[in-house]
Parts: sequence; C-alpha cells; structure tokens
Amino acid sequence: MANGICDNLLLATYFSAKNQVAIAPAMDLDMAEHPSLLRNISQLENDGVQVIPFAHGELASGLVGNGRMAEPEIIHSFIEDYFSATKDLQKKKILVNAGPTHEPIDPVRYIGNRSTGKMGVAIANELAKRGADVALVLGPTSTAFQFHNHVSVTRVQTAQEMRDTCVALFPSCNAAILSAAVADFTPKTKTDTKIKKTSNTLDLELVKTPDTLAELGQLKTESQVLIGFALETDNELENAKSKLERKKLDLIVLNSLSDAGAGFGHNTNKITTIDKTGEICTFGLKSKTQVAVDIVNKLKTLIK
Ligand code: CTP
Repeated sequence: MANGICDNLLLATYFSAKNQVAIAPAMDLDMAEHPSLLRNISQLENDGVQVIPFAHGELASGLVGNGRMAEPEIIHSFIEDYFSATKDLQKKKILVNAGPTHEPIDPVRYIGNRSTGKMGVAIANELAKRGADVALVLGPTSTAFQFHNHVSVTRVQTAQEMRDTCVALFPSCNAAILSAAVADFTPKTKTDTKIKKTSNTLDLELVKTPDTLAELGQLKTESQVLIGFALETDNELENAKSKLERKKLDLIVLNSLSDAGAGFGHNTNKITTIDKTGEICTFGLKSKTQVAVDIVNKLKTLIK
C-alpha cells in the first residue's frame, strides 16, 4: 500500500515535470537485469530522462550484483554536472526536422516509411539542453516523446508541408540539422474518396517530392551551418560524400542500414560523419541520446 502511494506520487511528479528529470533506480538483481526493465530504462533515456546507472554490490536480498542505488556522491556529481553543463549554444536558433512523411493516395491510404523520429528528437532535446532555441518540424510518427521546454514543435504530414515549414523557418536560424526520412515520391493525384478494389491491379503514378535539404543548401548564407543525414545500404561513404557536395552541406551524418542496431526503430545508432574538408569520423554503437551528443558536438565546431 505504502509503495502504491509512493509510486503514484512519483508518477504524478514525473508527468507534470517541465524540467530535466533524473532518476537513480534501485532494485534487486533479477529486476535490474530483466530485459523488460532494460528496455524501459532505454525508453526513458530516449524520452530525455537522465538515468544514473546502478551501482554494483551487495543488495538488500543478500544477492550481489547490479541494482544498488548509485552512491550519494555519484548522484551529487551527476547533478553538479547537469547544472554546470555548458550552455554553449545559448542565443542560437536551430532548426531540426525528424520522422517520416506520409504521402496520401486516398483518404485512407498513404506512402510512408519506417522512421520513428527518435534520432531527430534526441538531437532537438540535446541542442535545447545546451541552451539553443530549437524549432523542431516533426513528421507523422506515433512514438510518444517528451520535449525539452526550449523545443517548439510543428507537426507536418507530407514532404511538401515539411519543405514549406522548413523553408519558412530556416532564414531566422543559425543552423539546421535535417534528419527526417522524407518520402522521395508522392502520388501525382490524390482521390477524395476511397479507391475501391474494382480491378486486380492499381497503377499509381508517382512524382518527385521537393528536396528540402537541397533547397536549404541553396538558401544557406555564409554564416549558417547545414547538416544532413544519409541513409545508405551500399557504397555508403561514396554516396554520402556525393550528397554532401550535391546538397551544399557542411556535414553529413551517415547511417548504414547494414550496421546491426542502427537505423529505423532502434534506440541505438551507429554513425559516421563527413565534413566539407573530407574529414571522416566513425563512432561506435551508442544510444540515440549519446549519438545526439556527438552530432551536437560536431555542430558546435562548425557554428560561428
Ligand atoms: N531529404 C530532404 N527531402 C527529400 C529527401 C531527402 O530534405 N525529399 C533529406 C533528408 O532529410 C536527409 C538527406 O536529404 O537529410 C538525405 O536523404 P536520403 O534519403 O539519404 O537521400 P536522398 O536525398 O533521398 O537521395 P537518394 O535517393 O539518392 O538516396
């Protein structure tokens, strides 16, 4: 009973918190190592919660292992780090886009892709944590997110809406990081009523969507920084370098679908960055929150 009241109080505090939330969990060994617990911890990290890891040692049950609450000195140093965290992007306005786009075929069906928006949202939250004012343009994802209170979110559906919103926001921004998995093609015509299966085949004529990143590359001024993503399945480096040049980017973040744990849906990612000078940096498999820190660090070296 006491635990139940305590849990409810904790949940009420968490759900109404408008600031950074940190947790220092404590539990018995079997719970601490259970896959569903690890999955939930990773979900909390993706939602922007700072998780202070378990300590290893003797537990209340007598078992020895992971599950002890971090020592007070460790919790203290996490809190100290948070408050002294460099707000190195203060006074910078940064545009981020994320998620898929949906291209309607009729009122019921659409063409889409598997993007969840997790990587872009992690970037937006990291930028905001470092003091930036973030404009996030988010496609139609069903993933529930917690946004830092310096992230202002505009929801869009289609590639055209993604383009229109980003083009309108970009001139007032110091930088843009475009991580959205924008559909490359959209149906040439959309019907107002549901298409009936009156024949055995359905021919869809598709036309190219606007390329937001390439357009921002054209609009970009000397002082603006533009970062794009490349999702590749083959000739990764070569294709990414060619996108970097073609779209006039300062940096491209390469995701390879052939890397285990990277790409759509995962809570982890593995990236390689390539900059205009040809410098290549390869990072290991990390949580998307950690990958966001690496990307924002790269942006920091480029932004004036
Ligand atoms: N992008 C965009 N608008 C599009 C397509 C892509 O802004 N219509 C952006 C993505 O947000 C990403 C980058 O361009 O930052 C690269 O996307 P990707 O899908 O890897 O490449 P494409 O440009 O679609 O090229 P290709 O078909 O050759 O892979």
